[in-house]
Amino acid sequence: MSRTTLTSLRKMKVEQKKIAVLTAYDASFSHVLEQAGVDIILVGDSLGMVIQGQESTLPVTVDDMVYHTRNVVRGSEKVFVIADMPFMSYANTKQAIHNAARLMAEGGAQMVKLEGGAVVADTVKQLVERGIPVCAHLGLLPQSVHRLGGYRVQGRDTNDAEQLVTDAKALQDAGADMLVLECVPAELAERVTATVTIPVIGIGAGVACDGQVLVLYDMLGLTPGKRPRFSHDFLADTGAIPAAIAKYVQDVKSGQFPQLEQHY
Ligand code: KIV
Repeated sequence: MSRTTLTSLRKMKVEQKKIAVLTAYDASFSHVLEQAGVDIILVGDSLGMVIQGQESTLPVTVDDMVYHTRNVVRGSEKVFVIADMPFMSYANTKQAIHNAARLMAEGGAQMVKLEGGAVVADTVKQLVERGIPVCAHLGLLPQSVHRLGGYRVQGRDTNDAEQLVTDAKALQDAGADMLVLECVPAELAERVTATVTIPVIGIGAGVACDGQVLVLYDMLGLTPGKRPRFSHDFLADTGAIPAAIAKYVQDVKSGQFPQLEQHY
């Protein structure tokens, strides 16, 4: 059976059908997510925190990402798989091409994701010209947590908001085929979603985005400590993992998630 394509994901934006995305890091969850109707699995470098117990995503290596991506791909047949490019694996174009190629060829990913605004636009262009689809990531950039001074909402002031819209356009012009928007005010996310033609997937970015993503362990209530405000414990609602994932998919598709209490 062939996997979901970028063409069908783009069509979902045009037809205003919401895209349900979750992270996963292994074959078993990959299978459960696919069965529940998740459209895209993101093998996020969040695995550094939720799988490896690190304090941030920074220690994650390309080898780690290849290993987890391969396992996710083995566990599913149809779902679209995106792999994160870890910290400093795209610091220059040559490295970016080499590492993205590993995630695609060895890991089996269909797209790679990297963090940053216009500053990474040339890298995006170089990858796309070599046939590697790219998902950009704007707003809260976990790989820049030390520069940002913590995991905080981004784009609250006018200049930052304008910069984010400019960055989104620059990344689309460079050839990015998807955009993740993390922790930005819902109004700004709505503006970005209406401005670009590529699918915009939000996390803590309001209900107007073309789709939603959550870290799997957060939405199952497994992450130690305080759950991020934008997440929700779907396992507490349902009592079983497959039912929790199915409810998430249903709530994203029907526009029931996120609610106003999960907005900024
Ligand atoms: O690494 C990850 O899981 C991510 C999501 C938070 C979007 O990038």
